[in-house]
Amino acid sequence: MTATIIDGKAAAARLRAKVAEEVKQHHYVKPGLAVVLVGADPASEVYVRNKEKAVLEVGMASFPHHLPASTTENELLRLIDTLNADARVHGILVQLPLPAHINAEKVLEHISPRKDVDGFHPVNAGKLAVGQNALVPCTPLGCMILLRETVPDLPGLNAVVVGRSNIVGKPIAQLLLQADCTVTITHSKTKNLAEVCRNADILIAAIGKPEFIKGDWIKKGATVIDVGINRITVDGKTKLVGDVAFQEAVQVAGAITPVPGGVGPMTIACLLANTLKAALTT
Ligand code: GUN
Repeated sequence: MTATIIDGKAAAARLRAKVAEEVKQHHYVKPGLAVVLVGADPASEVYVRNKEKAVLEVGMASFPHHLPASTTENELLRLIDTLNADARVHGILVQLPLPAHINAEKVLEHISPRKDVDGFHPVNAGKLAVGQNALVPCTPLGCMILLRETVPDLPGLNAVVVGRSNIVGKPIAQLLLQADCTVTITHSKTKNLAEVCRNADILIAAIGKPEFIKGDWIKKGATVIDVGINRITVDGKTKLVGDVAFQEAVQVAGAITPVPGGVGPMTIACLLANTLKAALTT
């Protein structure tokens, strides 16, 4: 038997349509998102353009700020001051990575937690950890939506998270815990990783290593959420692969997200949902 392929593109389209509908309903406020890009990293430019386009498509206002790589940390902090004070701007996203001369942590902490649609501010991370209403990072939020659609009954299941980043691993572990899963967070120092993974009813792969998780690490019938987006070259051609060896995993898992077309499309849809939430709660 082969796994059900979880269609992230379709789920993202449904969420975008829902957000667009709610934007229409709440016509007295036009949600606005400011996307700040410093420098000209080609991948970041593509991500930022996609975000700005998606914002307009759901009827929100876009406030793009594309700054040169020479922008100083102080100039960036002053821009964030302006955006924090601008009532038309409900969400602020500073695209990462920032140039090396800028302290990213300092910049992210300068964003008002109420406008922190990435959910990276320590106030939002802390609220998530103690179970308070927070702006939650977009990729983990997207993973949970796909997971809930695939596995309606989460309480008590063994969830293993591979990766402990602040952006994905840690927040998704918090969300799984809130959903009453039994959560294990693993990382590069974990002993017997394959064995730990084999115990997972839900396996979240978020380590950024192409096809690192093999088919025989997966429990039969498990749900596999692959957060990885890795560009590799095969026979001179570049292609995108996840953190899971998909062709092997699909033979064992009960359900699995593909790369591309799984978690990826959910991230922007959740950014729109977070922007709407920020607009309606300020
Ligand atoms: N760079 C890569 N992914 C992200 C993201 O989700 N948010 C921001 N701000 N930058 C990123």
